Amino acid sequence: MTIHSLMSLPYGNDALEPYITKETISYHYDKHHRTYLNNLNNLLDLLPKGDAMRSMDLKDIAINSYNKPEMIGIFNNAAQILNHDFYWLSMQSNGGDEVVSNKLLDLIKEQFGDLNAFKQEFKKVGLSQFGSGWVWLVQDNITKKLLIIKTSNADNPILHNQKPLLTCDIWEHAYYIDYRNQRAEYIEKFLDRLVNWTFALANFLS
Ligand SMILES: [Fe+2]
Repeated sequence: MTIHSLMSLPYGNDALEPYITKETISYHYDKHHRTYLNNLNNLLDLLPKGDAMRSMDLKDIAINSYNKPEMIGIFNNAAQILNHDFYWLSMQSNGGDEVVSNKLLDLIKEQFGDLNAFKQEFKKVGLSQFGSGWVWLVQDNITKKLLIIKTSNADNPILHNQKPLLTCDIWEHAYYIDYRNQRAEYIEKFLDRLVNWTFALANFLS
């Protein structure tokens, strides 16, 4: 059986301070994210020895367990690992506007007007998610248009024919220690101070 392991954070656990504190990272990464991994490994271990899912990578597990009620536990945990891996990579110390100058920015300007209008829309979509979920910048695989979308719980754009470029976790565990109920402020800081546009560009070009 493939044992899935916790990805290493691409920075120190205090690198996103003061916008995301070491305390938040210690809960979010070391407890929430790690629990999804432990849960997934335990659930896979319960499958019959010959079950193909036991040796799949995370994306294939998510794709093959999606919308199957009997596999909801496996789906939720595998997709949440994927989502969190992507979220950590969507941020960096000293992120934000200053590193944005590329083809992706040109398309953002073309579709949203300017970077500020894009941010306003991203925040609006993030605030409109009722309950736990994620807000994403994606590229539609068919139209090639950029879209800002929200997903609930563990859902991921790869299950909807969309290529994820960037994500912000809007489960309360992502921001409640630092921002309490102020989700808007958390999303603003994510956009202005933390976004890793180099990662988004690499996804766009891949
Ligand atoms: Fe999270």
